[in-house]
Amino acid sequence: MPNAHVKKSVLLDFPYSYNDFTFGFKAESKYDTLISVSHKNEKFFLCLVEKDDKFLIKADKLTRPTNVKNLQDALHAFIKANNLSIISSNIYSKKNHLKTKPEFLKDIKDFIGFSPNSEMEIEIGFGSGRHLLHLARQNPQKIFLGIEIHKPSIEQVLKQCQLQNIGNIMVLDYDARIVLEVLSSNSVDKIYVHFPVPWDKKPHRRVISKDFLEVALRVLKKGGKLELRTDSEKYFKYSCELFLSLNRCEFSVKKNSNLEISSKYEERWKKMQKNIYDLHLTNLETSENKKAYNIESFDKEVDFKKIYEKFNNKTIKKEGYFVHFENIYKIDENSGILKLSFGAYNRPEHKYMLIKNSQVSYLPNAVLPIWQNKESNKIIKEYLYEQ
Ligand SMILES: C[S@@+](CC[C@H](N)C(=O)[O-])C[C@H]1O[C@@H](n2cnc3c(N)ncnc32)[C@H](O)[C@@H]1O
Repeated sequence: MPNAHVKKSVLLDFPYSYNDFTFGFKAESKYDTLISVSHKNEKFFLCLVEKDDKFLIKADKLTRPTNVKNLQDALHAFIKANNLSIISSNIYSKKNHLKTKPEFLKDIKDFIGFSPNSEMEIEIGFGSGRHLLHLARQNPQKIFLGIEIHKPSIEQVLKQCQLQNIGNIMVLDYDARIVLEVLSSNSVDKIYVHFPVPWDKKPHRRVISKDFLEVALRVLKKGGKLELRTDSEKYFKYSCELFLSLNRCEFSVKKNSNLEISSKYEERWKKMQKNIYDLHLTNLETSENKKAYNIESFDKEVDFKKIYEKFNNKTIKKEGYFVHFENIYKIDENSGILKLSFGAYNRPEHKYMLIKNSQVSYLPNAVLPIWQNKESNKIIKEYLYEQ
């Protein structure tokens, strides 16, 4: 990720602008400082860490834009505006980014209750995108939703969509396990999970889990399929066990079968003569419509000063969900930002909560309507109101 070490110096008073970037405010915590940036329609933070006589200026992980060019230019603008003296920098080490945000880079809120009007297939963790791009080229009548969390892979695929003039791909930068939760029931024809990270030491981070498979069956149409391909025998056996515990489906197993297109990972494993396993699951039933979960709004005023005074890093654990109050940032006496993670244990949401003029709002975007989030939001509400 682009970052720079600069000599520590007095910063300009906020707000101020440089080129197309407006730096709105800073919010300070014990560990780091967030600097708010607005650029056209995009809002994100830069993160500044003080160490001895230096500042490290970098992206804020939680809000960083998918298009790295905007981040690079924001870092550059911040350094120039403040006339900071650079000690070391890798800001522009990666070039040739996207010039604009392409229309096929979607927002998670576009998918809440989304029901496509043509066949839709999903690829989870598309990596280099070879398989996704191939599918889209071969099937122009279908739409393909590619879900990834690795931003360089997303940029690469968006660039290829532009270069190859592919119009039937939508790309989403989000945890696929959460995305599936918000999709309409019976809306998807096929889900591909090719070479997921095995996470042998942290199995809770795996894409495939009992919860995931149940949600996958809900969003798949009757006759819809889920295709898991892996080189990990452990992951294959783990998934087989889970598939066996499901009702309303059938599945088949293949070993060392070839696809029309090989991904980079697959080629690497093949060279190493590793076995490749496929598990193909078919959903046999139509599902009920998804239950609507309403995330309660914050209808009373909150007192940031009191919240700040009493803040402790703490986690509240409940059956199936949790809330972690991670950090607090002060903008001024009466406003600031809470850093939170919450929701389901194995696929948490990470958000900021801006408290300004006694009103609160989640950043970088609203909370998704999932039951664990709804319950977590209630805890957050109680916490804010009881201070
Ligand atoms: C081992 S790579 C495989 C990439 C590609 N499918 C292939 O066959 O070359 C796994 C990919 O899954 C992505 N990934 C991991 N967890 C994810 C999640 N929860 N949601 C979306 N993508 C995820 C990773 O960023 C990574 O690009």
